Amino acid sequence: MNDSNYIRIFDTTLRDGEQSPGATLTSAEKLEIARTLARLGVDVMEAGFPAASPDDLRAVQTIAQEVGNMAGPSGEPPIICGLARAHKGDIDKAWEAVQYAARPRIHTFLATSPVHMKYKLQMDPEEVVDQVREMVAYAKQYCDDIEFSPEDAGRSDPEFLYLVLGEAIKAGATTLNIPDTVGYTTPDEFGGLIAGIIEHTPGIEKAIVSVHCHDDLGLATANTLAGLRAGARQAEVTMNGIGERAGNTSLEEIAMAIKTRAAHIGLTTGIETTLITRASRMVSNYTGMPVQPNKAIVGANAFAHEAGIHQDGMLKNEETYEIMRPETVGLTHSELVLGKHSGRHALRMRLEELGYVVEGEELKTIFARFKEVADKKKSIADADLEALMTDQMYQTDKMYQLDGLQVTSGTMGLPTAAVRLIGPDGVLHTKAVVGKGPVDAVFKAIDAVVGMPVTLHEYVVRAVTEGIDAIGEVTVRVEAEDEEMKKRKSPQTGKVRRWMFGGYGADTDIIVASAHAYLSALNNSLAARERMATAD
Ligand code: KIV
Ligand code: ZN
Repeated sequence: MNDSNYIRIFDTTLRDGEQSPGATLTSAEKLEIARTLARLGVDVMEAGFPAASPDDLRAVQTIAQEVGNMAGPSGEPPIICGLARAHKGDIDKAWEAVQYAARPRIHTFLATSPVHMKYKLQMDPEEVVDQVREMVAYAKQYCDDIEFSPEDAGRSDPEFLYLVLGEAIKAGATTLNIPDTVGYTTPDEFGGLIAGIIEHTPGIEKAIVSVHCHDDLGLATANTLAGLRAGARQAEVTMNGIGERAGNTSLEEIAMAIKTRAAHIGLTTGIETTLITRASRMVSNYTGMPVQPNKAIVGANAFAHEAGIHQDGMLKNEETYEIMRPETVGLTHSELVLGKHSGRHALRMRLEELGYVVEGEELKTIFARFKEVADKKKSIADADLEALMTDQMYQTDKMYQLDGLQVTSGTMGLPTAAVRLIGPDGVLHTKAVVGKGPVDAVFKAIDAVVGMPVTLHEYVVRAVTEGIDAIGEVTVRVEAEDEEMKKRKSPQTGKVRRWMFGGYGADTDIIVASAHAYLSALNNSLAARERMATAD
């Protein structure tokens, strides 16, 4: 893309986003999200951190093979990028994973701030410069497209950055990413930092400058825009702004700010904005991280008008209180698509339009679920289909599956749940348990069968569409309390980490949806425990 005002969107939902506590994704979920991001038109996709585990490496490899050779809206496949610390071992693994993409990239990083160099790396600035030079050159043997990030650039000495970045360019870096790793800077400072880098770094005209901002002070989007206006031409973002701690700059905010304020900002992106809502829902469902209702662009209230004065204005002219049309981000008012007379073919076609390719057994199962719901609910909207697809994805090929559930509750007796689960051995397990309420009783009964120790941190119920017959969507987040898992250290931080897992369920009966969600979170925990044991 030669247009000098074109901003490359570098999506790191599957890497920095997946580092959010509790956002652990399975390989199948990562692949689905990657396909959606490619359709959305991201220019670069950071598919993961291959050195983190053999599982992460395989997930990036699959994305490189499948999505890295799939044309996006521009006609070209997205660049598939793998993250690597500035170590040979990490760089080898990143290449092992991304090499199958039509357009592979290795992204390597080393910290440059005084506090990181002194305490974390225990290296002198000269040693840091040497290692950057050597490791960028090492990565360049594999691949032409090399990105280098001076970690914690926001708190680094600008003069030192000019030197390090100049050396990285000499060694072959083609993109220089400037991270505000801890979300410390303000827009004027960050814009000034980027302007200074563009003015003073030797050889900078040969590289693309990129920005990567964290949201610790709620300034990530403002800082990113300031960096772009100062001359950066790549923005690193995540869907729904998920990421380490308070998260990253959100893709939807940057894409829509650039589009809505085009005349003022004077930049463009290749994002197909009508797919934003769908991508946001998929990421929220798969990560188990609900989007706050007042979140810009993708929150449930982002286009809702409550106050009488606002409603009156809207009826007279939408421009009174609406700066973007909801359709621009793919928000259609519960578009009715299918009903109980729709056949398998119509369902398959509609799912395909929504981005899900379903055949054979999978189609049979989803069609049966669809008919079940269509019998209870007059019409099925796109959001219902998305909920059913996500639920199916969470329930398929899992260790334990829900085979039956019965609950009694109310004011006349003790809330009791009986569950029947099919175990990994194919054997039926039945348990009945009394709880504090119906959901508590169901979760306790499932616990009694599965036996995976967890703490429930979050339980959220949401109606997918309006109306009494709506499908209920449940997301949960659990923390694995398994003693062996709790001893594991994160390869990124070297510290013991918390193992958080998300789960999702959707059904017209919210107790059934809750059981699906909880069971899928336990299945994800069990699968992670098994992978760790086999990796040893
Ligand atoms: O925030 C950060 O510094 C990062 C780097 C790896 C780019 O995520
Ligand atoms: Zn980051």
